[in-house]
Amino acid sequence: MSADLQRVFSGIQPTGDLHLGNYLGAIKNFVALQKSHECIYCVVDMHALTEWQDPTELVGNIREVTAGFLSCGIDPKAHIVFNQSQVSQHAELAWIFNCVARMGWLNRMTQFKDKAGKNRENASTGLFTYPNLMAADILVYKATHVPVGEDQKQHLELARDIAKKFNNDFAQSIKAQGLEEEFFPIPEPLITGPATRVMSLRDGSRKMSKSEPSEMSRINLKDDADTIAKKIRKAKTDPQALPSEEKGLEGRPEADNLVGIFAALSDQSKAQVLKQFGGKQFSEFKPELAELAVSVLAPIGQEMARIADDSTYIEAVLSDGAERARAIAAPIMCDVRRIVGYIG
Ligand code: TYM
Repeated sequence: MSADLQRVFSGIQPTGDLHLGNYLGAIKNFVALQKSHECIYCVVDMHALTEWQDPTELVGNIREVTAGFLSCGIDPKAHIVFNQSQVSQHAELAWIFNCVARMGWLNRMTQFKDKAGKNRENASTGLFTYPNLMAADILVYKATHVPVGEDQKQHLELARDIAKKFNNDFAQSIKAQGLEEEFFPIPEPLITGPATRVMSLRDGSRKMSKSEPSEMSRINLKDDADTIAKKIRKAKTDPQALPSEEKGLEGRPEADNLVGIFAALSDQSKAQVLKQFGGKQFSEFKPELAELAVSVLAPIGQEMARIADDSTYIEAVLSDGAERARAIAAPIMCDVRRIVGYIG
């Protein structure tokens, strides 16, 4: 890889339905980055196993996330789309990172604490070491940029720490092999746009998530036009009119969330949206938001349904992507094997 090449990597777990948070926080940015970068987008099925998955459902979910990527505009020919488990180098590097990362680092991960909850003793060890696998996903391609939503920031910081510690722990060996001193690049998180943390439509203090039991809390990419409009109509708000400036959104999480969604869907800033809607009531704003959301999301949902039916096509995309991903990962992993002192 030439020193100035910027390579993008990101992943999405095939667990449950893709939703508006995944779209605005991640996939929309994945699509935009294709213009300027070499991109690798991965359906992280190995990460999904950190919590028990019904095998039949997992197969369906891998296909569906792939269909989601393609329907949103990711080009699997110009870039790479594949599922993680087809490229064994992810697991191979993750083991080495299990031995580089420190218990103390992982103990600080808030997502583990949230997901394991009170039942920590019963959480899988995979859930605990999950961020090491995520670091391997990125670094096995020497990716330099990682577009994610706000909730992945801490995992990205850990990936940076792992890259630095590996480069440092093995500095002499890296030098002895005649390799670049910064063997692993320190990956940059790209957390951009007005909707890096989309909140539940029922409660502005909770993140929109696949695991929230209420379907009304999130808009799924598969939702049809009527369902999207209904969810927006019923979204929680407060009784005040919209403010004219962003500062007026402080302490109004539901208003802030809906304005952020409008801004991201229409490629504007929140300030621009408030210029248009400042002083207006939600009864005027919501129908406009619903119309905008339907115009952007309904065609994606229709395309997903169409592609998802063609499992032969989806599997061909994934296996072609995996082959091209392996071609990048294998030589990097070969260097890593020599660096750490394996034979063969
Ligand atoms: P996952 O599958 O939970 O989410 C996929 C992407 O969607 C973003 N996201 C959101 N963004 C804004 N608002 C929300 N409410 C919201 N919910 C989800 C996430 O930030 C993410 O970008 N660990 C990762 C997957 C992963 C990965 C990687 C990402 C595995 N290996 C390597 C980047 C690089 C995860 O569980 O994302």
